[in-house]
Amino acid sequence: MAKAKTIFTCQQCGAQSPKWIGKCPSCGSWNSYVEEVLVKEIKNTMPSRVSSGSQARKLSEVTAESAKRIDTKNAELNRVLGGGLVDGSLVLIGGEPGIGKSTLALQIALDMKDRKVLYVSGEESIHQIKLRAQRLQKENEHCYFLSETSLENILIQAAALEPNLMVIDSIQTVSTEYIESSPGSVSQIRECANGILKYAKENSVPVILIGHITKDGSLAGPKVLEHIVDTVLQFEGENQYMYRILRSMKNRFGSTSELGIFEMQSNGLREVNNPSELLINQDHDGLSGTAIAAAIEGVRPLLIEIQSLTSSAVYGTPQRSSTGFDLRRMNMLLAVLEKRAGFKLAVKDVFLNIAGGIKVDDPAIDLAVITAILSSNFDLPVEKLFCFAGEVGLSGEIRSVNRLEQRIGEAEKLGFKKIFIPKNIKNVNLKNYSIEIEQVSRVDEFFRKIFNKKS
Ligand code: TYD
Ligand code: MG
Repeated sequence: MAKAKTIFTCQQCGAQSPKWIGKCPSCGSWNSYVEEVLVKEIKNTMPSRVSSGSQARKLSEVTAESAKRIDTKNAELNRVLGGGLVDGSLVLIGGEPGIGKSTLALQIALDMKDRKVLYVSGEESIHQIKLRAQRLQKENEHCYFLSETSLENILIQAAALEPNLMVIDSIQTVSTEYIESSPGSVSQIRECANGILKYAKENSVPVILIGHITKDGSLAGPKVLEHIVDTVLQFEGENQYMYRILRSMKNRFGSTSELGIFEMQSNGLREVNNPSELLINQDHDGLSGTAIAAAIEGVRPLLIEIQSLTSSAVYGTPQRSSTGFDLRRMNMLLAVLEKRAGFKLAVKDVFLNIAGGIKVDDPAIDLAVITAILSSNFDLPVEKLFCFAGEVGLSGEIRSVNRLEQRIGEAEKLGFKKIFIPKNIKNVNLKNYSIEIEQVSRVDEFFRKIFNKKS
């Protein structure tokens, strides 16, 4: 018997080599080469590759109709997609196990009552899907279910059914018989994704693919998968918390700065239209160590609650811990407070937490972070209806941040009395707000303004 030909493929970037290599010369990742058996030539073997042949055309001959959006009946998802699904597009939804990808996909399938939907699951049996659908309390007469992992069978069923939307849960479980490597390997994922892409484009059917992510948080499978699909959405959140954030990482049909927020409930994912109301707890009146930041996630204003606790360090090296906020940035802010404003924090343990389990990268929350820390340190509560937006620089200056009008608008909408913002701002009109706006330029001045008045 002829020896099976094998090839080593990098699971990160798809680079190939005849022998095993520890470090991928093309993408630099370690230990990513996996041996795969290559029996049949990959070239021209996919059944869906029979092309009808397209014609070269001028842009002026193309009507803008092609940008028509399909309403997914889910406002948060529509927002992240940039208005809705586009016919013939491939949308990849990635996320950690248990985050709610299958729930989201099933909800979409069951909500799209005006379209014929084919929901393919390689992970669950039809009975499991039925149980889940019962849990979601949703029904859709036009939705067909298929528990299948073979790409060929999926495409045959799709050809017979002619759905207007296809959902595949998950791309890692689908395999084609033309490649002998195991499901989930780079070449399988690449070939299956290509086969599905071909199907989607030729039949103008939007396809939603679910993808697993690896331990380090990147989408499992080769980077090529992200190149193949039109849109990559990342579904994230902490398992202990109920909030889930759907983020756009790549979108050929819209902006990537959009963000959808959901809450996992016992009967499925609920759209959260006004996240700020959920994320801030209005009952902390009189408690020190809490401050509200007017943050922006993507393009959405979001008011979030920052909590801090400082106490005298028992050991020589004080403990510093932060959840949802970059620890190095917190250390930098502590150094600024120490050096530029003379607060003795070097001997204090400092703990910081962003309520609700969300992670925020926005530098504008610096001001709320230092407020929470100082508030806890001096046991001085912050006025309940105050909120903060500003970046803190290394010399203790409070720096300007983007989208200030949106932040002020959100704080005003939620009934805040006063917002602290940087002094040095350009092109921002502060006239049209009923909320009181206080501009601050330095950390020490800011501290006097918020605490001295009261005490
Ligand atoms: P699931 O969609 O199976 O996650 P994934 O496909 O990303 O692995 O979601 C699993 C979690 O969601 C599970 O821990 C239970 C929870 N869940 C609810 O809280 N409510 C529900 O209605 C459903 C269907 C699931
Ligand atoms: Mg699942």
